[in-house]
Amino acid sequence: PEAAPNVMIIFGAGGDLTRRKLIPALFHLAAAGLLPESFAMLGLDRLELDDERFRDRIAEQVKETVGAVFDHVVWQRLVSSIHYMQIDMREGADYEHLCERLGRIDAERGTDGNYLFYLAVPPSLFGEITDRLGEVGLLHETEDDWRRVIIEKPFGHDLESAIALNREMHRNMDEEQIYRIDHYLGKETVQNIMVFRFANSFFEPLWNRNHIDHVQITVAESVGVEHRGAYYEEAGALRDMLPNHLLVLLGFLAMDPPSSFESEAVRIEINKVLDAVKPLTPEEVLTHAVRGQYGAGTMPGGEKVPAYRASPDVNPRSYTETYAALKLSMDSWRWAGVPFYLRTGKRLTAHYTEVAIQFKRAPTIMFKDTAVEELTPDMLVLRIQPNEGIQMSFGAKVPGPTMQVGTVNMDFCYEDYFGNKPATGYETLIYDCMNGDATLFKHADTVEKGWEIVQSVMDVWAAIPPRDFPNYAAGSWGPAAAGELTKRDGRLWRRIA
Ligand code: BG6
Repeated sequence: PEAAPNVMIIFGAGGDLTRRKLIPALFHLAAAGLLPESFAMLGLDRLELDDERFRDRIAEQVKETVGAVFDHVVWQRLVSSIHYMQIDMREGADYEHLCERLGRIDAERGTDGNYLFYLAVPPSLFGEITDRLGEVGLLHETEDDWRRVIIEKPFGHDLESAIALNREMHRNMDEEQIYRIDHYLGKETVQNIMVFRFANSFFEPLWNRNHIDHVQITVAESVGVEHRGAYYEEAGALRDMLPNHLLVLLGFLAMDPPSSFESEAVRIEINKVLDAVKPLTPEEVLTHAVRGQYGAGTMPGGEKVPAYRASPDVNPRSYTETYAALKLSMDSWRWAGVPFYLRTGKRLTAHYTEVAIQFKRAPTIMFKDTAVEELTPDMLVLRIQPNEGIQMSFGAKVPGPTMQVGTVNMDFCYEDYFGNKPATGYETLIYDCMNGDATLFKHADTVEKGWEIVQSVMDVWAAIPPRDFPNYAAGSWGPAAAGELTKRDGRLWRRIA
């Protein structure tokens, strides 16, 4: 069904996110008939443009981004509802104009006074923009209309700043009006972790410490820091990926069944998982956390790439990590004693995100031609991206007169079943926000709990500069110490071919 009538107001409409994700997402929603009949978009930025010029600009970009599925009829309808206004985001008077302009658009388009503000701007502006919006009454909801604000990470750079940001946002809004995006929650395959677990009766009985040996979560990237050196120098791999994206995967994977798929019910279960994760003590950080930085190297395709320290806007003696691996554990009946190994890094040999669940070995092996150590343990792999799918590996009899066991795979590929649906990952999130469904958004306390988990690692790493950076070559699997993290426990990181 169509979303509720509304005006979507994008701060930073001249930027990258609007061009690459937001407008294409609106296009896909329009094409699927999910945008409301009464809809308008108002783009805001510093650039001096009028409606026509803004529309021309984005038309070119959207054609390029959505490619073959571009449809003129859909686009013409959508673009006629798109407007633009030049604004200085720090200037109070401009918000008075915004108020008037919105009033006019609302009256023309019949959008019922519902406003969705999308802050596609650096986080340093979040507080100021919402203060200004608050001053002119644009965040004030009545019984008949709603006002919502979408923001995107980074939500602070540590626990303290995350709390401060939440406080800043709460100055002008209730928590229910704030929609914090973690784009991993927009991924179909991430949402599918819940469906896989809770729409089937197969796996859930095995989903605990009695049957699972350990879990590996990998977000490997082959790209370097690209043009984001300035941001990345301050962030590093841990802040950039762990407390948000990797913990989203951990949360969905480890949660108990929520009482419903309502936002509050899911939030409670996710928060229980994060509460159960044991923060590492400073001593444990030395053995349970590994950091790395890439040096120059050769990517699998043969491309020679420079070191992180040679990237634009990066200090040539930078201590910023481009790789992080952690071993976490949980204090809960379901997961006590099951290690969760998490790793992420840039310029690794492959680009993929997956969750691998290794089951315990059979207690004894009765087939005498196979030694128990030779058996590859049963494994379930959720491939989040690319080649989205689910793979189950288990033992089967190798044909022949001897009783030998070999490992075989059963593989489900999304594309084979559902085709390749073009999507930016923002469609569901924007649509849900328009309908007031916050299930796939992050609550203030979930964000803070994420930072709590990594705070001790950040503290120890900041206090002890690494001596061995760069410690892995671009195009490799990461620092040798990461291998030790699992080897010490008699386990191995899964490698994809
Ligand atoms: C972003 C990080 O949040 O996620 C990037 O800032 C990272 O550094 C990206 O590359 C990864 O997202 P995806 O969807 O490509 O896995």
